[in-house]
Amino acid sequence: MTSTYQAVVRTDSVIRALVPEDLADVLEMEVRSYSHPWSEAVFRDCFRPDYRLYACDCGAALGGYAIVAYLFDEAHLLNLCVPPERRREGVGRQLLRYLIARAAHEGMKQALLEVRVSNLSAIALYESEGFRGIGRRPGYYPAADGREDASVMAIDLCVI
Ligand SMILES: CC(C)(COP(=O)(O)OP(=O)(O)OC[C@H]1O[C@@H](n2cnc3c(N)ncnc32)[C@H](O)[C@@H]1OP(=O)(O)O)[C@@H](O)C(=O)NCCC(=O)NCCS
Repeated sequence: MTSTYQAVVRTDSVIRALVPEDLADVLEMEVRSYSHPWSEAVFRDCFRPDYRLYACDCGAALGGYAIVAYLFDEAHLLNLCVPPERRREGVGRQLLRYLIARAAHEGMKQALLEVRVSNLSAIALYESEGFRGIGRRPGYYPAADGREDASVMAIDLCVI
């Protein structure tokens, strides 16, 4: 593995724990970012000991957030989101590198995620950070015209 796995790539923002007080901002970003956004109840259910919730703090406003669930020795990335006005600035990559580094540090052996097969920008980000497709879940996501497949992607953390 190369030096890709640095926890910080931007100097004008920090990654910190997401807290319940962030939820109003998170929900606002969520509805602007997804066709089928998570509800407040789903986010509140993520405040558990085996979950990691991260916020990118850019000062005045949140620059993005990530939700990870630890299951045995696997880190499942459940949500990674950057608001439209902050995209292509490196925030998503910063969050992803941070959560991966933390997961490896905490003994996770693999990171996994599902992503809509149409979500080419997210897939490009994950591939550029070393994730590889390991499968496909037919009809995993709701979609405007029915269901959409998920691509399952994973990265081995043992080599980090
Ligand atoms: C996916 C997402 C988190 C990326 O966040 P971001 O901050 O814009 O990403 P970055 O600026 O760190 O970009 C990192 C890389 O991702 C890829 N990428 C990001 N947006 C892209 C786009 N619109 N088109 C093509 N590639 C893209 C590129 O490889 C990019 O590297 P580059 O800028 O050097 O070319 C963001 O687009 C988002 O929140 N989308 C809506 C929610 C979502 O789909 N989340 C993923 C669920 S699985």
